[in-house]
Amino acid sequence: MKNIVILISGGGSNMAALVRAADREQWAKRYGAKIAAVMSNKADAKGLEFARAHGIATEVLDHKAYPSREAFDVALAERISAYDTPGQPALVVLAGFMRILTPAFVERFAGRLTNIHPSLLPAFTGLHTHQRAIEAGCKFAGATVHLVTAELDHGPILEQAVVPVLLGDTEATLAARVLTQEHLMYPKAIARLLQGS
Ligand code: GRF
Repeated sequence: MKNIVILISGGGSNMAALVRAADREQWAKRYGAKIAAVMSNKADAKGLEFARAHGIATEVLDHKAYPSREAFDVALAERISAYDTPGQPALVVLAGFMRILTPAFVERFAGRLTNIHPSLLPAFTGLHTHQRAIEAGCKFAGATVHLVTAELDHGPILEQAVVPVLLGDTEATLAARVLTQEHLMYPKAIARLLQGS
């Protein structure tokens, strides 16, 4: 069985969408893959409750408890690697994980580390993507699923979803419209990856 480890920092709605899709689409049977753990750098991440309620192992690694970014990433990588199975390295899915990862971490999980970013990359890397899209007068916005490389919010694009920016949109209304698409797109992208592996 190939294990999937999802990393979150907050609400975890993308993680929940992945868990629901894995159930509904029977990823275990179809791809031999299972969402084995949800890890968070924040103990109060809302998504942890959902994961627990669905019988998924949860782990909290508080980054503030580590002396450096490198030390945290090493500890996190060790916890993730505990989910490798023989010949089947775990797939690592970032879903609202609000930490910049060190090059060593990214290197270790190269090719099996994905992220979802709420913009049409390569536009608007970083934070406040929806506000920036509105301010730039964009007519369309969206989200991107990509493989993670050392450069923040870069890396090969796996999927993109596009939504219109409507007159009178605020950061919140646009974010909600994009998030709905994220919930459809991320499971699709992961299923496709699993299919190919
Ligand atoms: C999403 O918009 C995602 O694209 C971004 O952070 C947000 C996470 O939301 N990386 P949630 O925790 O999945 O609800």
